Amino acid sequence: MILIVGGAGYIGSHTCVQLLNAGHEIVVVDSLSNSKYESIKRIKEITGKEFKFYQIDLLNKNELELVFKENKFDAVVHFAGYKAVGESVEKPLKYYQNNITGTIHLCELMSEYNVKKMVFSSSATVYGIPKQVPIVETAPLQATNPYGRTKLMIEEILQDLYVSDSDWSIAILRYFNPIGAHISGKIGEDPNGIPNNLMPFITQVGVGKLEKLKVFGNDYPTVDGTGVRDYIHVEDLANGHLKALEKILASTGLDAYNLGTGSGYSVLELVNAFEKVTGIKIPYEVVDRRPGDVAVCYADPTKAEKELGWKAELGIERMCEDSWRWQSLNPNGYEVNELVTNTKTKQ
Ligand code: UFG
Repeated sequence: MILIVGGAGYIGSHTCVQLLNAGHEIVVVDSLSNSKYESIKRIKEITGKEFKFYQIDLLNKNELELVFKENKFDAVVHFAGYKAVGESVEKPLKYYQNNITGTIHLCELMSEYNVKKMVFSSSATVYGIPKQVPIVETAPLQATNPYGRTKLMIEEILQDLYVSDSDWSIAILRYFNPIGAHISGKIGEDPNGIPNNLMPFITQVGVGKLEKLKVFGNDYPTVDGTGVRDYIHVEDLANGHLKALEKILASTGLDAYNLGTGSGYSVLELVNAFEKVTGIKIPYEVVDRRPGDVAVCYADPTKAEKELGWKAELGIERMCEDSWRWQSLNPNGYEVNELVTNTKTKQ
């Protein structure tokens, strides 16, 4: 039985589908503070499988403990955390409290209930401003904003935990830029308000919710002056969790893995690919650089390939096609007038 914390979110929901399809039994905990119960329903629809869902915030350790009392877990996949860079600069304490304290509560319970296996969602943000690309896992780590610092601190906390008790088995996954959606178009990324990230912004321009894309700078030292990133299909990313889970279930240790494709695309290359695949024109204007953005960021994913037997398979066209299917079938995301009343548990 695998506990998935933050399983209603974008990457979490895709991972739930893959774990269920691979025959794992799961329990999902999510506060729904940044996700919707509708995604849980859709995971069940896609897979035809049932699982327990608890609406619990990691900050509420007593409630979380009930989940450990009621179930016997083999491992935890931990996705839960706030992730908006800009908001983290304005409200650092909210980020430290939620991301760090939440993780500590989770680890304390894991330790107490002897569930010492975890896959943790980290981010390429822990590399700060990369000196070299492609980025290898041994590159220097540095955070440039409170959100990034929470990821880095949690990596360090997990490292200390492992040093203190070598029964732990931990895989830290450093995500590059996940885009795309499940091929059914039933689950996908559903950002709150105006999207911060490029692909959801493009798809919302595509459906007419936003007028035009703002390209943050075209004077970077790149192919066309716009920022270059390693976009990875969320299905490939979810598969990386499955592979990491298999590894930690079979061993002890702590390792960090880059989950990226190893190829970079500029903002305009992504816009062009999207237009080509969908036939939809994305009007844009170039504006100033966004503070804190780096010019180029892409992964060296060799370690994950060697040690997890994982490799990204899906190309930029599939990423665009699937992002668009999700957005066009769900122009308002998961927005349904649902009443999440009583119960902490829904089955
Ligand atoms: N961009 C635009 N216009 C937009 C949004 C983004 O031009 O409206 C550009 C950015 O300048 C950047 C590229 O598109 O060059 C990608 O930007 P995203 O915001 O989609 O992604 P980032 O690489 O900035 O951020 C991602 C994650 C963060 C993480 C960071 C570093 O969203 O959580 O990678 O790893 F911190």
